[in-house]
Amino acid sequence: MDGLFSEGKIGTLKLRNRMIRAASHEGLADEKGNPTEKQFQFYKRFVEGGIGLVITGYAGIMQSGKSALYHMTMIHSDDMIAAHKRMVDKIHDLGGKIVLQIAHCGRQTWSKETGEPPLLAPSAIACGFYKEKPRALTDPEIYEIIENFGLAARRAKDAGYDGVQIHGAHGYLLSTFLSRHANRRKDKWGGSKENRFRIVGETLHAVKKAVGQDYPVLIKLNSYERARRGVKPDECVEFAKMVEETGCCDAIEISCGTNEGGFVMARGDFPTKAILEYMRPYCEMNPLFKFFTRMSVAPVVRLFQPKFTEGYNLDTAARVKKAVSLPVIALGGMRTKQFMEDAVREEKTDFVSMARPLLLEPDLANKFKNGESEAARCDNCNKCVVAVDTAPIACRKDEFN
Ligand SMILES: Cc1cc2nc3c(=O)[nH]c(=O)nc-3n(C[C@H](O)[C@H](O)[C@H](O)COP(=O)(O)O)c2cc1C
Repeated sequence: MDGLFSEGKIGTLKLRNRMIRAASHEGLADEKGNPTEKQFQFYKRFVEGGIGLVITGYAGIMQSGKSALYHMTMIHSDDMIAAHKRMVDKIHDLGGKIVLQIAHCGRQTWSKETGEPPLLAPSAIACGFYKEKPRALTDPEIYEIIENFGLAARRAKDAGYDGVQIHGAHGYLLSTFLSRHANRRKDKWGGSKENRFRIVGETLHAVKKAVGQDYPVLIKLNSYERARRGVKPDECVEFAKMVEETGCCDAIEISCGTNEGGFVMARGDFPTKAILEYMRPYCEMNPLFKFFTRMSVAPVVRLFQPKFTEGYNLDTAARVKKAVSLPVIALGGMRTKQFMEDAVREEKTDFVSMARPLLLEPDLANKFKNGESEAARCDNCNKCVVAVDTAPIACRKDEFN
């Protein structure tokens, strides 16, 4: 197998190397969710920095699935295509490749943000973080969501994106269907793994039907969720095989975690000060509560944070790679050049993707290639992760030190 700097392929999409910028919500869209010049300038640094592919932060397919995070990008109506196209064209002019991640946030948002109460989910169980009780989706509503994934993908294609990634991870709508923890349905959408997978399978079919067989369609799946009945690696491998069987997907990215699971998705530090400054509802608490949280709650919560280890989803990604013939993207804690090079050369994964490290070093791919760096400088402080709740994306490593 060729190494990290060899060309790669995802369906019909040719990439200059095996390094991908993983979807990370930017908070750089305008009030309506249209991409902005700032968003282009933000992606531009990755393209000029040598990354093989940029996957955008999640874009909302419907108003009911809008994120509670600051200024989500949207792709829920045709009149947004022009703004997306302006940005995509400029990325292409630089020689970059860009895929739009499309999502419905399900129960991981607030209805005061969607403006369309109640929240929608497989079952009427609140997410332990957002704590707003959703309503269980009806059959026609599920089909409407599937159709809207297709419509969003068609808009992405019209805007010139090089592909779409369906967000099937992190506790958002599709991943809650996959998880026995959040999906307690007894109809054809719940119970057996085939039933829980049904909405994902149908979404993949709807998306390919909308964009055509040659248009690259990727999916992001969870390898692990902290909840007892949540997705675990064995089930992730099964779901990956089911994705391949649809014949409607070109690559699978392996991630982990949900919002209520704390920092499972990202690992690393529990950024108490940044949480109290940027993250609702904590940033809205009175100073006394903040003081109490800092002194007593945070140290206890911190004890239960999963430890950071390099490439913490790679083992599952490698199992998925053995089980399917689709290209696999391993995400989560990719930090050193040697580790990534070995992961690709040893055929544990076809691609590696990164989110946090590129905020500090958007040109990390070039630095690795030119021998200027052997390891990312990101220290997993996680201030970037919590700050996107109320502010645009940025590396915030040097704040609150
Ligand atoms: C600021 C920020 C925003 C994120 N937003 C998204 C998102 O929109 N969609 C998504 O699938 N993952 C999102 N993630 C998760 C990352 O894709 C990734 O799973 C996680 O950061 C672990 O990878 P890393 O160690 O390379 O940072 C986000 C991560 C960060 C840091």
